Amino acid sequence: MKVAILGFGTVGSGAYDVIQGSSCGLTVKRVLDVRVPAGYEELVTTDYNVILSDPEIEIVAEAIGGLHPAYEFVTAALRAGKHVVSANKHLICHYYKELHELAAEHGCELRFTPAAGGGIPWLYNLRRAARCDEIESLRGIMNGTTNYILDAMQSLGSDFAEVLATAQQLGYAEADPSADIDGWDVRRKCAISASLAFHTVLGEDDVPTLGIRHITQEDIAYFTSLGLCCKLLATARKVGDRVTAYVEPTLLPADAIESSIGSNFNCISLWGKYVGCLSFVGQGAGKYPTGCALVQDMIDMMECSGKTPISLGAPVMDQTVYPHRYYIRTNASVPGEWIERQDGNRYMTRPLNRNEIHSFVEEATNIDPQTFIAGLEDNLA
Ligand code: HSE
Repeated sequence: MKVAILGFGTVGSGAYDVIQGSSCGLTVKRVLDVRVPAGYEELVTTDYNVILSDPEIEIVAEAIGGLHPAYEFVTAALRAGKHVVSANKHLICHYYKELHELAAEHGCELRFTPAAGGGIPWLYNLRRAARCDEIESLRGIMNGTTNYILDAMQSLGSDFAEVLATAQQLGYAEADPSADIDGWDVRRKCAISASLAFHTVLGEDDVPTLGIRHITQEDIAYFTSLGLCCKLLATARKVGDRVTAYVEPTLLPADAIESSIGSNFNCISLWGKYVGCLSFVGQGAGKYPTGCALVQDMIDMMECSGKTPISLGAPVMDQTVYPHRYYIRTNASVPGEWIERQDGNRYMTRPLNRNEIHSFVEEATNIDPQTFIAGLEDNLA
């Protein structure tokens, strides 16, 4: 089967190398990029119409990133009857419903496994699990940069700023690292995962998010003294007909599976009514892991495997379900009735819901901009 790759950057060139190095049955007929690298003149075009009008090209792999022109290219490919795979979490999260409806209208497949979990076959298996099982919850480490930071702070005693700079040098961080440390990258991955899991459509605004920007070495030492490990987790749950999804630094017992995940690895789990817990661990970013996941989606399309119609019911979002306890470190005042334990300016609260904690964050950060909040995960299922 002949394919075109849009974007010859890190992921696109990774996918190209994977196809060239394998005998998987795919052939890259064209690559679209704004520049034509020397030696690739036969392959690379700057004119998308060359790809759109080529009936031999059955799959378009989008690895451009960002919303535009990726949106225009992907919708044009679907309208032209070509299957689409994409590594672009921003695009998939923003246009989830529209792209699925457009694909269905034109009898095409839309796949985006690398958009959350990078090289891990997470979305592929989540989609598969959701075919006949009822996904009750999902949870995981979906950002390598922040896991690298938290792991180095805990295991090496490094300072936040120092270890963020190393993560940037190693190429893990987003171009603007605030997308990593403030949780926005995970928020999109969480919305996409919850949409697939619960047969619905969640946008990023449906996912209240707390990041790790203000975590300190003292916070980490305090958590360690309590036998807890801090990870930035995406969590989504279905409770009856209601759905909750959120991103929070989360305090886990030392024996939780995520607590053992070091460096920039991702670890994502689902809980199905029938299958129980399934966990997936691996590289959530990088040229070859992500490029390989993009190619795997293309091979699935070629083999017509895992073909499942996606249903898109409206979610009943409710951020009051599944309240849990929080750690708060702030010099602002914390409502007395919330406090279960206090050590100076560190508090452990009674169970609170996301509406309560996010109203508090806004007020508290006005008074103490360094306020740091983490959820306490005491229910592992
Ligand atoms: N900056 C992201 C990460 C890249 O660190 O996981 C993959 O989405």
